[in-house]
Amino acid sequence: MTALVAPDTARWESWAAMIRDFGGTTEMHGSGHWFLEGDPVPTAEGCAAYVLMTEVTAPADLDGTRVPSSYFWITDGTGAPDDEVVGFLHLRHGLNDFLLEEGGHIGYSVKPSARRRGHATEALRLGVVEAARLGIERVLVTCDEDNDASRRTIEANGGELEDVRNGKRRYWIVS
Ligand SMILES: CC(C)(COP(=O)(O)OP(=O)(O)OC[C@H]1O[C@@H](n2cnc3c(N)ncnc32)[C@H](O)[C@@H]1OP(=O)(O)O)[C@@H](O)C(=O)NCCC(=O)NCCS
Repeated sequence: MTALVAPDTARWESWAAMIRDFGGTTEMHGSGHWFLEGDPVPTAEGCAAYVLMTEVTAPADLDGTRVPSSYFWITDGTGAPDDEVVGFLHLRHGLNDFLLEEGGHIGYSVKPSARRRGHATEALRLGVVEAARLGIERVLVTCDEDNDASRRTIEANGGELEDVRNGKRRYWIVS
């Protein structure tokens, strides 16, 4: 099973194992880690700094490049405290110019060792449900033209291709 949970320092060891699994790649879509000063450090303190960053969503805290948003961790299970953390999902509550062109409402990634088990497909479905709860009726999700795994994840969730801009396939999912 796959669940979305709020980032939580109580899960720091599983989060740290996920960071190590990604191995310093630029693939941690949906993590927002680039808003930290430096990469997340896979320690309890590093997790606390990361979780604090994910909580900074009030418009007054934004620097003009970010819109209000919700961060989730994807877990393998029902969301129970002992679930393994396997990925990231970031739900943007609105679209600025960049997000409308390229970024979309939802970004996600699954750690390499947990891929091809359906986690991304189910996590995106759950992310669209979260979007609907916020009143977002059409969810924009994008992927690089050559990212077959992400393309299939989006299409499995009913994504309708609008066009390709700057090498990004832009899909709309009705929530
Ligand atoms: C894209 C990503 C999230 C998919 O995660 P996942 O949990 O492995 O995805 P799923 O198991 O739900 O599989 C989704 C679909 O992609 C296919 N797929 C998975 N990995 C694939 C690969 N390497 N090549 C081709 N297809 C692949 C699956 O077969 C499935 O398609 P199907 O339903 O038609 O069989 C993961 O590969 C990842 O984190 N990549 C790096 C970050 C990224 O690209 N994020 C998306 C940004 S737009």
